[in-house]
Amino acid sequence: MTKTVTLLGLESSCDDTAAAVVRHTPGALPEILSSVIAGQTDLHADFGGIVPEIAARAHAEKLDICVEEALIQANLHLSDLDGIAVTAGPGLIGGVVAGVMCAKGLAAGSGLPLIGVNHLAGHALTPRLTDQAPFPYLILLVSGGHCQFLIAKGPDDFTRLGGTIDDAPGEAFDKTAKLLGLPQPGGPSVEGEAKTGDPNRFKFPRPLLDRPGCDMSFSGLKTALLRERDRLVAEHGGLRHADRADLCAGFQAAVADVLAEKSRRALAKYLQLSPGTPALSVAGGVAANMTIRGALESVCDDAGTTFLAPPLALCTDNAAMIAWAGIERFRAGERDDMTLQARPRWPLDQQAPAMLGSGKKGAKA
Ligand code: KG4
Ligand code: ZN
Repeated sequence: MTKTVTLLGLESSCDDTAAAVVRHTPGALPEILSSVIAGQTDLHADFGGIVPEIAARAHAEKLDICVEEALIQANLHLSDLDGIAVTAGPGLIGGVVAGVMCAKGLAAGSGLPLIGVNHLAGHALTPRLTDQAPFPYLILLVSGGHCQFLIAKGPDDFTRLGGTIDDAPGEAFDKTAKLLGLPQPGGPSVEGEAKTGDPNRFKFPRPLLDRPGCDMSFSGLKTALLRERDRLVAEHGGLRHADRADLCAGFQAAVADVLAEKSRRALAKYLQLSPGTPALSVAGGVAANMTIRGALESVCDDAGTTFLAPPLALCTDNAAMIAWAGIERFRAGERDDMTLQARPRWPLDQQAPAMLGSGKKGAKA
């Protein structure tokens, strides 16, 4: 299929309600005509984490407003589109249902095709939207609910090389922020605090580095941080500013070290299989962390491999990635209908055994 394709994408699987319009003409660069995001940080602020019921209600209230805004910004009407792409999972089910219902309504009303998209495929295909990465490439998907190495071989063809056996790094950042009294989402708060901290003051563990393979673990790191926090509070009656900064810097350095070393191993494995396309990409909210990006970039430099890092706004949840993944499915001739189901769990590599406890936050895969 060679014609220009323009899709509306909807995203509502976690705590961002988003709509975007993306256009692609073969031979030309994809264009993000609009990308609207309504976050919910304020709504969950008093609860120290995302409350699924509050998230679902907010998505239901905001989806049509975001769609309208995305169409206005793109200067298009529904009738100018070729289809509606929507996150159909994995994620917090109430939010995913709200998105799927909205997309079905739009498709039924306009007669446009409906395309269900795996949220993780949205992240994993982002390097094709931003850098036209040819298949295959290795990608580290690292977010609030996920941490896995995947070989992307096609829009619907992923092989998992390894992943976390407990917490996802974003979840660990969020819990760390909570333990230290910093605002949610934890990633940006901890990164901000770490800027003035000493990463070497506390000796945090680097779990599973002594074991072969690319599996990871982050829950022990959080426990080590809790222990140090309690010790400091007992000694000084509270946390001093420098303590908090040093704890954040030490925690972030440990996460970066683990991700870098495991990326080195995943890359070696990948390059054995696909020496012709040496590329490592990163996606998901944690990929917005500059220390982690820097560590991964060094791994790629050492291995003579291209590092593909999407711009920060396309690393965290957004609907442009959903519209793009929809375009990839649309071009492959795939369509859904009104039987499209919202799925709380939906692993990208259907063959790989389920990871122990992975994706606990929001039960994402
Ligand atoms: O991909 P994402 O927007 O949502 C999903 O989980 O799917 O990722 C959100 C996660 C949160 O846990 C957040 O704390 C983390 O990404 N995050 C970061 C940073 N920005 C967002 N983690 C570390 N450093 C950051 N700068
Ligand atoms: Zn995500």
